[in-house]
Amino acid sequence: MAKILLTSGPTRQYIDPVRYLTNASSGRMGRALAAAAIDAGHEVVVVSGPVEVEYPAGARVVWVLTTEEMLEAARREFAACDGLIGVAAPCDYRPVRVEEHKIAKTGAPINLHLIETPDIVATLSHEKNERQSTQWVVGFALETDDHHYRAITKLQKKSCDLIVLNGPEAMNAATNNVEILDRTGSVVGAFSGSKEEVARRIFEVLAERLIAGTR
Ligand code: C5P
Repeated sequence: MAKILLTSGPTRQYIDPVRYLTNASSGRMGRALAAAAIDAGHEVVVVSGPVEVEYPAGARVVWVLTTEEMLEAARREFAACDGLIGVAAPCDYRPVRVEEHKIAKTGAPINLHLIETPDIVATLSHEKNERQSTQWVVGFALETDDHHYRAITKLQKKSCDLIVLNGPEAMNAATNNVEILDRTGSVVGAFSGSKEEVARRIFEVLAERLIAGTR
């Protein structure tokens, strides 16, 4: 049995007390992967941004709002886990300044000054490499162009063992269409169907290639 950490769902970056940046991630793929891992007998911790889906009863869920909170919670939980599946869609940018009061309309345009947030998968991968840990890391890549090239570049940059490539139609949808790439750039799985079915197939590849080897 392995202990698996999943990051799932979107994050929010507040502009003022009532407005925020986010994206359309629903947490459905995270929920389906959590269910597949639990069904296969593993222990699952999900660090999730705000979503409407319910995670499986067998998963422990840590709720967060921002990308920074997701990183802190994931870092804390990862220390006791065998591997990470980064299926979340964290906001990549945050406003430099969060206004204390609701921004009032004046009729004039306003500028939002945004800076990059930390990359959770990349940070945890690099930290575990520094510890020379045998923990494994699986990333997701959502690409619209040069799919394989971009996914492999991401796998290398984020130091993942495997990367799951899907298209933008996966966002907030019931179905998904994925390819799994390994460190050599080879496609080691290609699945389509409901997110539940696709998650089961992804998990089988992952269990065979990563979990079987660590335990
Ligand atoms: O760079 P991009 O956002 O396309 O990479 C997607 C992968 O990186 C996913 O596994 C996602 O969970 C992860 N990611 C992350 N932290 C971010 C942005 C993306 O962990 N700030």
